[in-house]
Amino acid sequence: MAALAELSLVLLLLSAVSSDYTLTDQDGLGREFDGIGAVSGGGATSRLLVNYPEPYRSQILDYLFKPDFGASLHIFKVEIGGDAQSTDGTEPSHMHYPDDQNYFRGYEWWLMKEAKKRNPNIKLIGLPWAFPGWIGRGENWPYDFPDVTAYYVVSWIIGAKQYHDLDIDYVGIWNERSYNATYIKLLRYTLDKFGLERVRIIASDNLWQPIASEVLRDAELHGVVDVIGAHYPGTVTVADAISSGKKLWSSEDYSTFNDEIGGGCWARILNQNYVNGNMTSTISWNLVASYYEELPFGLEGLMTAKEPWSGNYVVSTPVWITAHTTQFTQPGWFYLRTVGHLEKGGSYVALTDRRGNLTIIIETMSHDHSVCIRPYLPKFSVCPQNATFQLDGSFKNVKTLQAWYSKLCTNTTKPTLFKRMSPITVTNGAFSLELDVDEVYTLTTLTTGQKGTYPDPPASQPFPRKYKDDFRVRNPPFSEAPFFADQSGVFEYFINTSDPGDHVFTFRQVLTQRPITWVSDANQAISVIGDFTWSNITVSCDVYIETPDTGAVFIAARVDQGGSLAHLAKGIYFWVFADGTYKVTGDLQGEIILGKGLAGVRARRWHTLTLQVEGYKAYGFLNGNPLWKNVFTVGPAHGWAAIGTASFEFAQFDNFMVEAKVTE
Ligand SMILES: *[C@@H]1O[C@H](CO)[C@@H](O)[C@H](O)[C@H]1NC(C)=O
Ligand SMILES: *[C@@H]1O[C@H](CO)[C@@H](O)[C@H](O)[C@H]1NC(C)=O
Ligand SMILES: *[C@@H]1O[C@H](CO)[C@@H](O)[C@H](O)[C@H]1NC(C)=O
Ligand SMILES: *[C@@H]1O[C@H](CO)[C@@H](O)[C@H](O)[C@H]1NC(C)=O
Ligand SMILES: *[C@@H]1O[C@H](CO)[C@@H](O)[C@H](O)[C@H]1NC(C)=O
Ligand SMILES: *[C@@H]1O[C@H](CO)[C@@H](O)[C@H](O)[C@H]1NC(C)=O
Ligand SMILES: *[C@@H]1O[C@H](CO)[C@@H](O)[C@H](O)[C@H]1NC(C)=O
Repeated sequence: MAALAELSLVLLLLSAVSSDYTLTDQDGLGREFDGIGAVSGGGATSRLLVNYPEPYRSQILDYLFKPDFGASLHIFKVEIGGDAQSTDGTEPSHMHYPDDQNYFRGYEWWLMKEAKKRNPNIKLIGLPWAFPGWIGRGENWPYDFPDVTAYYVVSWIIGAKQYHDLDIDYVGIWNERSYNATYIKLLRYTLDKFGLERVRIIASDNLWQPIASEVLRDAELHGVVDVIGAHYPGTVTVADAISSGKKLWSSEDYSTFNDEIGGGCWARILNQNYVNGNMTSTISWNLVASYYEELPFGLEGLMTAKEPWSGNYVVSTPVWITAHTTQFTQPGWFYLRTVGHLEKGGSYVALTDRRGNLTIIIETMSHDHSVCIRPYLPKFSVCPQNATFQLDGSFKNVKTLQAWYSKLCTNTTKPTLFKRMSPITVTNGAFSLELDVDEVYTLTTLTTGQKGTYPDPPASQPFPRKYKDDFRVRNPPFSEAPFFADQSGVFEYFINTSDPGDHVFTFRQVLTQRPITWVSDANQAISVIGDFTWSNITVSCDVYIETPDTGAVFIAARVDQGGSLAHLAKGIYFWVFADGTYKVTGDLQGEIILGKGLAGVRARRWHTLTLQVEGYKAYGFLNGNPLWKNVFTVGPAHGWAAIGTASFEFAQFDNFMVEAKVTE
């Protein structure tokens, strides 16, 4: 074997089949690198993570944030909760009402602290997807009162510092919606007024245009926008963005299943966003697939953690693809100018810390990108090829490079992910590689780096078929009860100290106004829970309507839609109204009426609703007594259980219980 290897080395040196690439800083450097990141939110993508038992929760966080361990992210971006549906659920605002401020809602604060705990240098970004309704005074628009919006956003940044000691590094405008130049200037002014000069502004988290040309036209806007952030840029930018002289980021990208193909897309994006599009940061949507898989874009995080009830999680390919860049670079490093495409497909980038360290990342992803869900990348054909890299300038005397390697699986091979190889010897400033398709190499002067591991987590399990919550046991940093995933409205733990007995601790829908939405939110509030495959189930819950005469609540089974389609959800819904009536419907909007009558329910009294669904028949009970029966249903055959309210109104829930019949 050794003789054969030597022979092939000679051939390689002699033959012309190898292409040459020079890596040098001789003629100056390229752009400053700003880091690789991921988004939690947009929306509720980390919802189930918070309910993982230890030690699994910490392990997942280590795979994402711990330096030299896994994805080792440089940047962590979160949604500034806006009370509205923002893809996989709603995230609560810090100001539901104009006179309200609470910096302990949701899980993003906790998650930012966990990220910082592991990597004190991680950069934090906040971006709104939606806003509470009062910001627009009834209009679905956040820019009519730009001072109010700026104050609202800056309050979140101040709250982060005051209550959690978190320094937010960057703030955005309105995710994938319009920006308003007056508002952006006012946001800068408001930040400065509160001593937050250090917070940088990203605009506009949408397309390159019109922000790039407006920044060129408007000198004042040019002065306040620090980063032009585009979403899913497909690795390319536009001339105006380059002319602006601003930092260019892919401020949201990837959005692909986290299997091997997703990993391949991610590898290509991470290199080619700089090579083709001059982008110095790429941010993955999303951080971790911690939401019910049947919600939109299931499994599109860097890894999967969607079973807090079992503790099972999956460290997916994109984690290790990320590590190839993140473990051997840092924000503040510089790209070399000598980056580019490989002759037979694929690309290479090189970065330096300007203190002599060099990191080279090479990818040869061949995947047909019609299978990538979002990054509309050009389709390349990639062939095996030999490449010789010549190091020059400051790197002329590098003698050895540490090597890390991944190869995605083919029909015949299993994947190799982020494997440390024997170091590469650099001879006369040059080294050669035989590159196959679907590979990633990191070659670096850094001797750090680690493929972190933990023992396998517990096996995957379905959601428990019997589940109940009396909302008494609370997980202090979180406002939400385990496993409930709000799809419209916001449900929070509530304490009523004047309750005479059984209902001091409840779960309460707290929105009283339709938010400034990001998608077509329902006019009802709904929180789903359980297993999407549940068909024959009994759902029971104590309910408390707070609004006399007009208030109404429901419990539901077989809810078949969430996310941005939640407003179209079908299923079986059992409603009771403060006017004493009840209704059974096949949809959340309450239009497909399957049954109705008198129930005698009143506001400000507790009642127990029970909904039993079996095959084509549904049955309703009030306070344990049959209220209606044999309602015929032809809606979806399965779906989640749910609780909710008929409008944005206060209402409380207690002693939630669900039991599913599962055919063995
Ligand atoms: C790469 O070099 C090796 C060794 O010289 C040779 O066997 C192989 O055919 C070359 N591959 C390509 C694609 O040129
Ligand atoms: C931006 O908002 C301000 C304040 O509401 C408004 O006067 C202006 O017309 C808006 N600009 C655009 C381009 O919509
Ligand atoms: C942008 O990228 C192209 C292609 O790599 C490169 O030629 C150009 O110099 C870059 N421009 C700037 C301003 O970074
Ligand atoms: C490379 O990075 C390491 C770790 O930060 C540092 O100690 C070293 O001085 C740097 N420079 C060289 C030439 O290794
Ligand atoms: C891989 O396997 C699939 C299905 O078995 C087959 O259709 C495809 O042609 C194979 N591809 C290669 C490159 O062998
Ligand atoms: C709290 O409990 C008291 C006593 O039952 C009741 O009068 C009051 O309406 C409750 N408050 C809320 C917000 O539910
Ligand atoms: C639900 O119950 C019906 C009627 O008893 C039965 O026919 C059906 O197979 C059950 N479905 C499941 C998924 O267990």
